[in-house]
Amino acid sequence: MHSEEQVQRVSKDDFFATPIYLTDLVDSGALNGQLKQDIRAWRQRDPEGTVRSNVAQAGAWHSATDMHTRREFDPLTREIFKMIQGIYDNLGYDPDFEPVCDSMWANVNSRHAYNRHHTHPHALWSGVYYVQAPDDCGLLYFTDPRPQTQILTPYYDLSRRHPSTWNEVFYQPQNGRLIVFPAWLVHAVHPNLCNEEGEAGERISISFNFYQVRRDAEFRNPHRKEVVAGDLAPRP
Ligand SMILES: [Fe+2]
Repeated sequence: MHSEEQVQRVSKDDFFATPIYLTDLVDSGALNGQLKQDIRAWRQRDPEGTVRSNVAQAGAWHSATDMHTRREFDPLTREIFKMIQGIYDNLGYDPDFEPVCDSMWANVNSRHAYNRHHTHPHALWSGVYYVQAPDDCGLLYFTDPRPQTQILTPYYDLSRRHPSTWNEVFYQPQNGRLIVFPAWLVHAVHPNLCNEEGEAGERISISFNFYQVRRDAEFRNPHRKEVVAGDLAPRP
C-alpha cells in the first residue's frame, strides 16, 4: 500500500493590467521629413501655440489641437487610426463602435524643455509619435497608477523581478516610434538634454486622444472636432 501525496496547486491571476502598445513604423524617414517641414511651417504661423502640460518657459512649443483635421497630416493620422483599430480589436471592443479622434497636436521641445506629469481627460486611449528624437532628448515616463502600492514596497530579488511588479517604466523615444497607452495613465516627459545645437537637437513629437463612437451614429458631438477613419483622405 502506498500513500499518494496530493500536490497543492496554486493559480495566479494578473488582473487590472495596464497595457502599453508600441510599434516602429517601417520606412518612416520620408514621412518624418515631410512632418518636420509642415510642423515648422505651422509653428512660424502660430509661434505662441498652446500651453498644456508643456512648460513654455522652458522652450516647449505645443500646437493647436486640431492637427487631425488638417489634411496635410493625413498620412500619419491614417497610421495612428490603424494602430488604434488594432488595439480595439485586440481588446475585444464592440465592433459597432469605431475609433474617433477629437484632438491631435505637435510638440517641439528644445533643450531643457519637458512635460509635467499629467493624464488626458475625456479620452480612452492616448499616444505619442516621434518625428525627431535625437540622443538624450528625454524619456517618456509612466508611473504605477495604483498609489496604494507605494505604501510598503517589497524587497525584490532583482534578478527575478517580473515587469508586472515594476512601479515606474521608461520608454526611449526613437524616430518613427508610435506608443499608445490608456488616457488615464499618468505620464511625463523628461527634459531634453540633447547636446546638438539648433533644430537638430529638438525633440519633435505628436500626441493624440481617442475614444469610441457608434459607426451608425447620425450625429457627432458638436462640441468636439470628431474625426473617424472614413473622414481621412484615401491613401494615394
Ligand atoms: Fe501626454
